[in-house]
Amino acid sequence: MSANKIDFNKALTSEETLDPENWDQLKSLGHEMVDTMMDYLRHLRDQPVWKKPTREARHSFNRAMPTEPQNREDVFQDFLQHVLPFAKGNVHPKFWGWVEGNGTPFGMLADMLASGMNSNLGIGDHAAVYVELQVLNWIKEFLGFPMDASGILVSGGSMANFTGLAVARNSIPDRDIRVKGLFESPSRLTVYGSTETHNSVQKAIETLGLGSQSFIRIPVDKNYQIDMKLLREAIDKDRKRGRIPFCIVGNAGTVNTGSIDPLAQLAVLAKKENMWFHVDGAFGAFAAVVDELKDEIKGLQEADSVAFDLHKWMYMPYEAGCVLVRDKKLHRKSFHIAAPYLISHERGLPAGPESFGDYGMQLSKGFTALKVWMSLKEHGTEKYKRIIRQNIAQAAYLEQLVNQSPELELMAPVALNIVCFRYMHEDLSNEELNTLNKEILMTLHEEGRAITTYTMLGDAYVLRVANVNHRSRKEDFMQLVHDVIEIGNGLLADGFKRDRIIKRVI
Ligand SMILES: Cc1ncc(COP(=O)(O)O)c(C=O)c1O
Repeated sequence: MSANKIDFNKALTSEETLDPENWDQLKSLGHEMVDTMMDYLRHLRDQPVWKKPTREARHSFNRAMPTEPQNREDVFQDFLQHVLPFAKGNVHPKFWGWVEGNGTPFGMLADMLASGMNSNLGIGDHAAVYVELQVLNWIKEFLGFPMDASGILVSGGSMANFTGLAVARNSIPDRDIRVKGLFESPSRLTVYGSTETHNSVQKAIETLGLGSQSFIRIPVDKNYQIDMKLLREAIDKDRKRGRIPFCIVGNAGTVNTGSIDPLAQLAVLAKKENMWFHVDGAFGAFAAVVDELKDEIKGLQEADSVAFDLHKWMYMPYEAGCVLVRDKKLHRKSFHIAAPYLISHERGLPAGPESFGDYGMQLSKGFTALKVWMSLKEHGTEKYKRIIRQNIAQAAYLEQLVNQSPELELMAPVALNIVCFRYMHEDLSNEELNTLNKEILMTLHEEGRAITTYTMLGDAYVLRVANVNHRSRKEDFMQLVHDVIEIGNGLLADGFKRDRIIKRVI
């Protein structure tokens, strides 16, 4: 046995631990850390949204791995000097990039408590498991999903989509794919979703062994919603040629424009075709809590599985994704494997509720639920509803500002909280506008004014504002419009000649 090679007498004469020798000293450093982060969050507005990590900071990450202890104060100083100043910026009131939430100060503290408890939710009869179960019940109630559904908190929307689609694939009747794999299903198993579907769905389909060719992308209409007629035709055609259509993915809030597919119609079609209905509601699922949007989002509650993030439009610190599955039995059947070391007991720690390991890929699983549980208690659902509604109103306000500005052009309908627009000049070709808008975006970032990101709509490069920011105010959007116009005008006044940019001189 290799353990015999260790001289245990020697090792045991000077036993060590990773706990501090001086608890009081660490406690006071801990207080300083809390003060630092509270002040940081409190004064974000006075700071640039983003600063490129300096050469010095980047070099600091090339240092050799420490073999001997360093002073904790020095380690903290290193964080203050090289890490914190170069944060991504998604905590800032003027960050609207990709779809990234802010987090909250109380959520940060909850994460500290969770980390201190260091609970592993994989299995066992302990409070953290009950907290997650309660959180799942609260979320089902909040979204209007059936209370007998199952669910699990995961790292994010990508993992939630993967989990939902894994259950869909494993639940194809008469296939027993978990046991037999795909080898005994020679017909192609096909999944349908719009061309606007997030790439995490394709990743899941590939990882599930179905192959990306099995993801049938259905074109969208002018509102970026899936074309129902083309979807029906594609399913029909595929059945006729011997394929097995088994799942429809609906979008509650597409990543590009925030558009919501006709979920109720998709639910009916899926039922009629005996197919699984999965909804990717990464952020848009929370439109379900806004009364004015109930009609648009109708059908979400009919899904067989729904994936969404709490770190996006519920403003929880990263990471916090979630998947709900209507049929708890199918969910468990998809992931449960009996193992002698995981058997539930009548009493003692292994006597807890069912293992979360039976409902997803992870066995070891952190206490993500605590920040969700504490945050929901801190604010109550009514406040979340108000701030989600506020984000939608802010997007509509930005849309209005864009429409009122002759220098700007709205590039897609604003369905929810995403606004796509660009700086416009009629003398410029589309290609030149693309280059100009990209330059505007990079300047916005480099000057730390605001973070919007980008996407391509057709062949147009657009500035894209995704508002899941509880810190933004109306004037921040006014300032954004002002900044974009100012930068765009400035570039054009410069002749926009900086050789790498547009050749044409205005
Ligand atoms: C519509 C949609 N689906 C899925 C995802 C993936 O979520 P995550 O980044 O949490 O993995 C995103 C991310 O922005 C998204 O917008």
